[in-house]
Formats: sequence, structure tokens, C-alpha cells
Amino acid sequence: MSTVLLIQSKDAISGVSIPEPVKQYFSQAMSGEAWSYTYRGQEGVFYLEKAGKGQGHAESERLRKAGSSIAKSLNADKTNSVNVINVDATAEWGVALAEGLALTNYKFDKYLKDREKTALSLKIITYSGAGAEQWNAVQTIVESVFVARDLVNEPVLGLNATGLADKFVQLGQQAGFSVEVWNKAKIESQKMGGLLSVNKGSQDPPTFSIMEYKPANAKNSKPIVLVGKGVVFDTGGLSLKPTPASMDYMKCDMAGSAVVGGVMYAVGKLNLPLWVIGLVPATDNRPGENAICPGDIITTFDGTTVEVLNTDAEGRLILCDALAFAKKYEPELVMDFATLTGAAARALGAYGSAMMGTADESVKNDVKAAGDKVYERLAEFPLWEEYSEEMKGDISDLKNLGKAEGGAQTAGAFLKYFTNYPWLHFDIAGTAFNHAPDAYRVKGGTGVGVRMVVQFLMNKANG
Ligand code: BES
Ligand code: MN
Ligand code: ZN
Repeated sequence: MSTVLLIQSKDAISGVSIPEPVKQYFSQAMSGEAWSYTYRGQEGVFYLEKAGKGQGHAESERLRKAGSSIAKSLNADKTNSVNVINVDATAEWGVALAEGLALTNYKFDKYLKDREKTALSLKIITYSGAGAEQWNAVQTIVESVFVARDLVNEPVLGLNATGLADKFVQLGQQAGFSVEVWNKAKIESQKMGGLLSVNKGSQDPPTFSIMEYKPANAKNSKPIVLVGKGVVFDTGGLSLKPTPASMDYMKCDMAGSAVVGGVMYAVGKLNLPLWVIGLVPATDNRPGENAICPGDIITTFDGTTVEVLNTDAEGRLILCDALAFAKKYEPELVMDFATLTGAAARALGAYGSAMMGTADESVKNDVKAAGDKVYERLAEFPLWEEYSEEMKGDISDLKNLGKAEGGAQTAGAFLKYFTNYPWLHFDIAGTAFNHAPDAYRVKGGTGVGVRMVVQFLMNKANG
């Protein structure tokens, strides 16, 4: 057992029940220059973090990172439990510290032969002080982020489209939402031509998963629909990607679907009083013998024809079927999540995700505020009419390729064509997968999106 204290004012330390030598050391530390102190002695290991270096959400983020460092230290020490005591800071800051600690305590080790020996030691994180009543929910949300990370980190050999759908069924059983999985025959009968065309070069069939959480006490009479890109691997198809720093991490191309799975899991586990539907079209994108060719013209779910000028712009082809399908719910709001374009990643780096869409300004502001609170920041990109013009076809209704410049927006404009409801698109190509660890945003799948959406939904449920 180790203890973490979060303290803001100098004198607050006097009231804390910790061994006398630790108290003396930390009393002096409260007047010291640094913001983090560690006491190691016979009494055990104690961490002191001072609150109030910065303000508001920026300070929350600093504290998440401080929590992240502590998590690494606890595991290095082979500690199995930690008690976080928020002595006198706000609930938001206290929870942020503990959340950063918990989010860092993640390891994708299922493929390691010696995983029993090398597993993380830290198992139990308890919390007391302001924010304590939120701690169970926060732990559930962290678990939901891990659900998303696990899905992203699993390579395609272990997770094809059928495997992804199976995972959603499992999550539904665990969290209490229903899941219907369409197989290839059903997808054919429904004429989801976008999804089927991307699947043509594959040995594995596509799936279309429909998740639904509809509690009796739902506050919304029209559902919120979440759509996730489920490209379980993106080779680019015949428009093949190069391997280094490109195809080599394209197991992450189902990260949008992982957001949907993670959020559905959280919503079910937290019993949020909201009607939420999740839709995931899934396939790999491969250059098999029968793969679609550049120049092929396909017909999507709603009858729109699309000239496929680049088979690597496949995300929009599977999402458009799901977005057109979503019309039947007459949704209050549709949010789609996709590792859609390198352009979004180039514009923002890994520091935030691109958002665009037709929802009201007030909804956009609520979503951005939720993103700021959890530090999954969103930058809005415009969907000017010219982007839609660019996607118009010559011999088809649409083409799947615009200019290289403004590539995130033309992809968004393509998707917009298939919507007739308030809609927001999130391009997480730059944020879904880390090539190196960044504090609590660990290496590999980050689970980005889950905390932002759950925060937005919780605010909605309470509002
Ligand atoms: N899955 C990729 C986008 C991507 C890039 C995801 C980097 C994660 C990290 C997507 O299917 C793709 O290949 N997009 C192309 C579109 C282009 C051909 C119009 C791109 O961005 O280059
Ligand atoms: Mn692609
Ligand atoms: Zn892709």
C-alpha cells in the first residue's frame, strides 16, 4: 500500500493522519519549490502532489500527468494498492490526479509468454476526499477506455470483422445492451454496397453491428446514434499503402468502432438514462484477387453511385452506408468516429481531433466543452460548400477522392451527403494511436474519444 496526498494550502497537511516523519517532511515540502515530492522510509512510500500550479482544466491535465508518473513509480516498486487522498483540492482536480494514475495502469500483454511475471503490480486504487462520490464512475470510464485500447491493440490476425462483432456481443452481455450482428448475406440483402465493395478484396466476410441501449428512464425520445469506422486492417487495397509509418500501424483503423464499443460499455455500466445506438460497419481493406479497382463505380445503401478513384479512401465508403442507415432512427444526433484522413493528423498532430458537422452551434459547444474537460480536445473544421462540390462525380453521383489539400474536409463533405439529421464527424486519425507513450496516453491504442463522449452524455443526462 502506498499513499498519494493532493494538497493545496500549506496548513492543510496538519490535519492529515500520516506517520509523524512523513508529516514533517511534507510540511517542509509544502514550502518548497517543487510541485511533487516522494517520501520513502520505514513507514512506506508516500507521494505529495501540490494543487494549484495552474488553473481550471489545464491544472486538471497537469495533475493527470502527475498521476501518470506516480503510477509508473508504483509499478516499478511492485506496489499492489494505492490510496489517493484529496486533502483540500477541488473534486475536479482530485479526480483528475487519480484518473491519470488509473489511465496509465494499462498494459496490452496478452501475447507475452511471461505475462504473469511481468504484469503490472498495481491492482487497487482507492480514493477519498472531495470527488469520492465520482470515483466508481471514473473507474468504470477508465475501464471503458481500456476496452477501446484492447480492441485497437489487437492485430487483425486476432480480430477480423467477425471477431470485432463478437466482441461487441460480449460487451453487450457485460454492460447490458443489445447487439444484432448482420452477416454478409444480410448485408448483401440490404444492399450496403459501400461496405461490400471494400470487402471484395478480402478473404473474411464483413459484419454490420447494431448495438442498442434503451433504458425505461431514457430522457431522450429520439436516439443518439454513434457510428464507428471498423476497418480492422487498412492495406489501402489495390491503392496499396507503403509499410513504414503507414501500413505498419493500420490495425488501428477500427479505432472509431472502438470508441463506439467503449462508450456503449460505459453507458450500460453507468446506467445512463439515455437511449443510445451504436452502428459499426466492419471489414478489412485488402488487395485480394477480386478487390475493387480504381475507377470502379459502386452503389451505396441509399442508391448513391460512387466512383472509387482511390481504394485507400475506404473509410468513407463503409461509413456512408451506416450514416444512410441511421436515417431510419430519426436521431436527435449522430456522432461518427473514424481514423479517416492523414490530412486531419497532419493539421492537428496528436494534440487534438478534428470535428465537423451540421449539428447546432449549442451542441457543438457542449461537445467541445466535454472535450476540454477531459482534455480530448476538438478543433472544428469547416464544411464549406466547395468541399462538397469537389466530391461530385463526373460519371457518378460522387467520387471518393478530392484534392490532397483540405482532405479532412472533403472526406467530411462526402459523409455529409448521406446525412439528413444533426450530425458530427470526428476524425481521430492523429489521436487514436501513439507511436511513443505520452504520459497517461500510453503507447499503442489511446482509447481517445471514449472519455469525451461519455462526459458529453453524462452532462446531457444531468442537464
Ligand atoms: N485509414 C486511413 C487514414 C489514417 C491515416 C488513419 C493515418 C490513421 C493514421 C484512411 O483510410 C486513408 O487511407 N486515407 C487516405 C485518404 C486519401 C486516399 C484520400 C489518406 O488520408 O491518405
Ligand atoms: Mn485507407
Ligand atoms: Zn482507413
